[in-house]
Amino acid sequence: MTILITGGTGNTGRPITDSLRSRGADVRVAARRPGPNGVPFDWTDHATHARALAGANVVYLVPPPMNLNPMPAAGPFLEAARAAGVRRVVLLSSLLPVHDDAEAAELTETVRSFPEWAVLLPSGFMQNFTGAHPLAAGIREHGEIRSATGTGKVGWIDAADIASAAAEVLTAPGPVAGEHVLTGPEPLGYSEAAAIIAEVAGRPVRHISAPVSELLQRNAEAGIPEPFAAMLAEGETAIAKGHAARVTDTVHRLTGRPPRSFADFVRARPKEWSAA
Ligand SMILES: NC(=O)c1ccc[n+]([C@@H]2O[C@H](COP(=O)([O-])OP(=O)(O)OC[C@H]3O[C@@H](n4cnc5c(N)ncnc54)[C@H](OP(=O)(O)O)[C@@H]3O)[C@@H](O)[C@H]2O)c1
Repeated sequence: MTILITGGTGNTGRPITDSLRSRGADVRVAARRPGPNGVPFDWTDHATHARALAGANVVYLVPPPMNLNPMPAAGPFLEAARAAGVRRVVLLSSLLPVHDDAEAAELTETVRSFPEWAVLLPSGFMQNFTGAHPLAAGIREHGEIRSATGTGKVGWIDAADIASAAAEVLTAPGPVAGEHVLTGPEPLGYSEAAAIIAEVAGRPVRHISAPVSELLQRNAEAGIPEPFAAMLAEGETAIAKGHAARVTDTVHRLTGRPPRSFADFVRARPKEWSAA
C-alpha cells in the first residue's frame, strides 16, 4: 500500500509521515518543497499531480491552502486519483468553515464518492500560537492576543493528535467511511490560553478584545489573501457565539490515547513564549 500525503511537510502532514514511516508504511510526501524523499507537487500545476499519484492507493488530502475555492484544483486531482486506482481518501477539513459553503460541500461529496473515505473535522490548532502565525507574533512581540472571540472557547487540538488519528484512519484495515470531529481535551478561551502561556513564559500575556476590522488588517499585513482573511475573521465571530467550544473523545477512541492538553503543549516549548 502506498500512501500519498499532500501537505506532507505541514503541521499535520509531517507528523503523519513520521508516524507511518516508523510503522514501516510506504509513504510519499507531496509538497512544493517536499524534501529529499518526497515528490514535487503544486496544486496550481496539474502536471505535477499524475507523478505524485502514480501507484498510490491511499491519499491524505490537505486542500489548497488559504483558498476558499478548492475545487478547480482539488476536483481534477481527485478525478486523476480515481483514474490512478486510489481507493481511500482522507480529507483534512475543519470544524469551523474554511471554504465557501458550496465548494466545501462539493469537495466533501467528491471525497465521499471514493470506495473508502473519511473527513477529519479538527478544531483550532494549538500550533496557531507558535511559529510564523500572526497570533504567535502578537504573543512574542507584545505579550498580547488580540481577537474578536470575546469569551468564546475553542477545543484546541495539537496537530500531532490530528496526525495520530489520521494515521489510524489511513491505515485502518477497512472498510472506512465516516466523519471524525477531532478536538483537544477541554475548551479554552483566549483569556485562559493567555494565562497558561503567561505562567510558563514568566511574563504577562493578555487577551484583548479587538474589532473584526483590526483582524482583517492584521491578516492582510501577514500576506493572507483578502477573501480567506475575511473568512478567518468570520471564524472569530463563530467562536464568540460558542460554535467551537465542542470537545469529543474521538482522538482517544481512534488512537487509544487522550489528546494533549493546552498546558502540556505550552510547557513542552518554553522558547516559543520568550519576548522577541
Ligand atoms: N490552523 C487551524 O487552526 C486549522 C483548524 C482547522 C482546520 N485547518 C486546516 O488545516 C489545513 C492545513 O493548514 P495549516 O495551516 O496547518 O497548513 P500546513 O499543513 O502546515 O501547511 C501547508 C502544507 O501545504 C503545502 N503547500 C502549500 N502551498 C501548496 C501548493 N500550492 N501546492 C501544494 N502544496 C502546498 C506546504 O508545503 P510547501 O509550502 O512546500 O508546498 C505544506 O506542506 C488547512 O486546510 C486548514 O484550513 C486549520
